[in-house]
Amino acid sequence: MSANRPAAVVVLAAGEGTRMKSATPKVLHEICGRSLVGHVVAASRELDPAHLVVVVGHAREQVTAHLAGIDADVRTAVQYEQNGTGHAVRMALEELGGVWGSPRTESGGGTVIVVCGDTPLLTGETLARLAATHEADGNAVTVLTAEVPDSTGYGRIVRDAGGAVTAIVEHKDASDSQRAIREINSGVFAFDGALLADALGKVRTDNSQGEEYLTDVLGILREAGHRVGAAVGSDHRQILGINNRVQLAEARALLNARLLEQAMLAGVTVVDPAGTFVDVTVTFGQDAVIHPGTQLLGATHVAEGAEVGPNTRLKDTRVGRGARVDNTVADGAVIGDAASVGPFAYLRPGTVLGSKAKAGTYVEMKNATIGEGTKVPHLSYVGDATIGEYTNIGAASVFVNYDGEHKHHTTVGSHCKTGSDNMFVAPVTIGDGAYTAAGSVITKDVPPGALAVARGQQRNIEGWVARKRPGSAAATAAQSAVQVDSDGR
Ligand code: UD1
Ligand code: MG
Repeated sequence: MSANRPAAVVVLAAGEGTRMKSATPKVLHEICGRSLVGHVVAASRELDPAHLVVVVGHAREQVTAHLAGIDADVRTAVQYEQNGTGHAVRMALEELGGVWGSPRTESGGGTVIVVCGDTPLLTGETLARLAATHEADGNAVTVLTAEVPDSTGYGRIVRDAGGAVTAIVEHKDASDSQRAIREINSGVFAFDGALLADALGKVRTDNSQGEEYLTDVLGILREAGHRVGAAVGSDHRQILGINNRVQLAEARALLNARLLEQAMLAGVTVVDPAGTFVDVTVTFGQDAVIHPGTQLLGATHVAEGAEVGPNTRLKDTRVGRGARVDNTVADGAVIGDAASVGPFAYLRPGTVLGSKAKAGTYVEMKNATIGEGTKVPHLSYVGDATIGEYTNIGAASVFVNYDGEHKHHTTVGSHCKTGSDNMFVAPVTIGDGAYTAAGSVITKDVPPGALAVARGQQRNIEGWVARKRPGSAAATAAQSAVQVDSDGR
């Protein structure tokens, strides 16, 4: 078995997480666009293990369904009662069967990595380093440890005079001098699979919690004369375990900062990292600029030289090169190169803006393809439409797409100029190069090059104010205007 490919990674996720005080199982809470267990599964995948097993228990149907959605190759092992971390790993090995199951065959079957489902900041790189140290040192078990400022609640790493790890003692079972130890068990281990399976059978429950502690495997293996080692992690924040919503927010801030740091080092300007939020799945081109108050979610990509924000939320949206997106909400949109969006635009799923196109102020679009150089600058709704190139849509226009039962499509050609305050009552087609008059309700197709006028004729009733509103301020103003006019001034 190579150092790069463990036989199995076991993720412990059966616990309830009562301190979250939530109807949602703890490991399904999200940070940066991924569930807590999703982050751990993603990091584990980087090791390319032969098997990836998640131990589920509390809300197992929900957790299992979630796992199936994020990684089809994850296996689950059910731990019906949470009898401790050692018991949980035993359930995982039973699920794997074969070399580790019961009855167990002779050969061991390589390295087994154990991680907790609530440590979302742990990286694949750290896991790989642990696996490599474990195999290079020929250990039976290697524990990932860290020096933490406050070790309360954690299992303490006990070493002998020579510095060798002798045991892990849980906080509740520790003596005062052991409690002073600041090196703690991260809950992440690399094991020799066969020795692990053997030792788990010997773990007892005579501790303060009456549980099978995985940590006891260490002492058992050492007493049996096997090599026990530790890999000291360089960054204790990576092993932050989430138990409540304060830690959830702390982890989110740390991961967000890490993602933005990677982006900045790759050439992205982030004006205010503390006020910018990104998901792990977001990508950037060089020289993208992100202004304060911006949230980039899901599969959003901001291409080279594009500028986004301030106060913008983009989900699953592609922003083209050199585009400008200001004070905008977009979901499932494609924004072309050098296009301009906002301020105050709302782009809904299926919006495709061509290069140099514009969706301006108070403009909402949905399921609309807008051609190159076409502008919808002000106060408009464009739904279920195709608009050609270099067309200008007048202010305050509505693509009337819904008849109360069905949605209909509007097609506008290239190089059109439609007037302000138009209603395009779908289905309707405006030909290339056509014009429409302001205030028109367009219900019939307009041929190419025609001017469509679809509005009431204007009628002026002379002297109406003087007759119907005599003595009013309006009447006085009108009278002086007429006077000025006839005086020729
Ligand atoms: C555990 C370790 C402790 C370590 C700490 C790191 C043991 C005995 N203690 O303590 O040394 O410092 O993690 O955070 O291992 N789980 C199950 N089934 C169970 C019990 C737990 O799946 O029966 C899962 C939980 O869902 C959780 C993980 O195992 O993801 C750790 O369990 P938890 O109860 O949080 O252990 P700690 O007391 O924190
Ligand atoms: Mg814990």
